[in-house]
Amino acid sequence: MAAELLSKAKKNKADEFYTQLADIEAEMRHYKEHFRGKVVFCNCDDPYESNFFKYFALNFNFLGLRKLIATCYVNSPVAGEQLSLFDAADLPGLPGPGRSSPHKIEITEVSDENADGAIDLADVEMLLRNGGNSLTLLEGDGDFRSAESIRLLREADIVATNPPFSLFREYVAQLAEYDKKFIIIGNVNAITYKEVFKLIEENRIWLGKSIHSGDREFRVPDSYPLQAAGYRVDENGAKYIRVKGVRWFTNLDFDERHENLTLYKQYTPEEYPRYVNYDAIEVSKTAEIPYDYDGEMGVPITFLDKYNPDQFEIIGSSRFVGKPMSEFAAKGTYVSGGIRFYLPEGDGTYRRLYDRIIIKRKGAAQ
Ligand SMILES: C[S@@+](CC[C@H](N)C(=O)[O-])C[C@H]1O[C@@H](n2cnc3c(N)ncnc32)[C@H](O)[C@@H]1O
Repeated sequence: MAAELLSKAKKNKADEFYTQLADIEAEMRHYKEHFRGKVVFCNCDDPYESNFFKYFALNFNFLGLRKLIATCYVNSPVAGEQLSLFDAADLPGLPGPGRSSPHKIEITEVSDENADGAIDLADVEMLLRNGGNSLTLLEGDGDFRSAESIRLLREADIVATNPPFSLFREYVAQLAEYDKKFIIIGNVNAITYKEVFKLIEENRIWLGKSIHSGDREFRVPDSYPLQAAGYRVDENGAKYIRVKGVRWFTNLDFDERHENLTLYKQYTPEEYPRYVNYDAIEVSKTAEIPYDYDGEMGVPITFLDKYNPDQFEIIGSSRFVGKPMSEFAAKGTYVSGGIRFYLPEGDGTYRRLYDRIIIKRKGAAQ
């Protein structure tokens, strides 16, 4: 029970990771042509805190947006937390000193509010101070699943945000249900979720352009307990944490996704053993996919960083297609757990592998 509570607390904490503007810029610049004339909705985004709101407000004219909508959830960090992008002392349109009253902002125009010859953050701040083009309180709690939020979702063309990690499955399922275009940030492990993997197989979701390795820094609320390695407090006392395995997930197309992965290795049965509990060969590194193998191959999930849907077909994932090891080997000879693929160690025992994606080459050998 205690462990369960702890893991829940950890999950909720991960719901308050704030994306850095530079990471948002690095990704969005690949989709410029998708944004023209469109309504962008940031539905997990307190406009006073979210760099998604800030990015789209600052680039409203550059991208040629028709409208920008951002909604703030009731549990957005409370007043007093120094998370705001702006001086939060005297914000308009919201009751009392709190910033966490659920509200929405709708912008249809961004101009040089302070007439200094440039559209910059000061103008966006002035826009908010002047009540935005339209800043209104929400009736409900601002949950992305609420009727109010869904009404806005229906109106939107493209959704862009960093959704709460603990609700990622539901979040993606909702986008699919309403058939929306989206560009969202999350963790690479979400690939293995049934709901997400199904969309990957159907070519309805893929990884974005700018992040394929390493870690990224996210701002966290002041109250966030920072014991882990890889955190930092800046000169203003703002806290940041480094997160591994971050990826963008999208259904907006970009050119590089259609470039072939260059393959250089030749297939040999010795180098590419077969799994015990599924009929495919093991390819432990994406770069080593053999150029002359026609059958099914298991690759690490990071294959998706290189995935060109014109070059390969996705057949399944080890979690969903693997057969139970109990059908193949005696108990005690393999590490048990959720279904994964196994390889013989040669001494009567079996090695359990990390998640694998099953792929097959499209077309003839190169
Ligand atoms: C990971 S944070 C990201 C915030 C912001 N999008 C950014 O990247 O800076 C997720 C945000 O979603 C909000 N949130 C949590 N649960 C939500 C829900 N059910 N509906 C809408 N927003 C929610 C949190 O308050 C938090 O601000």
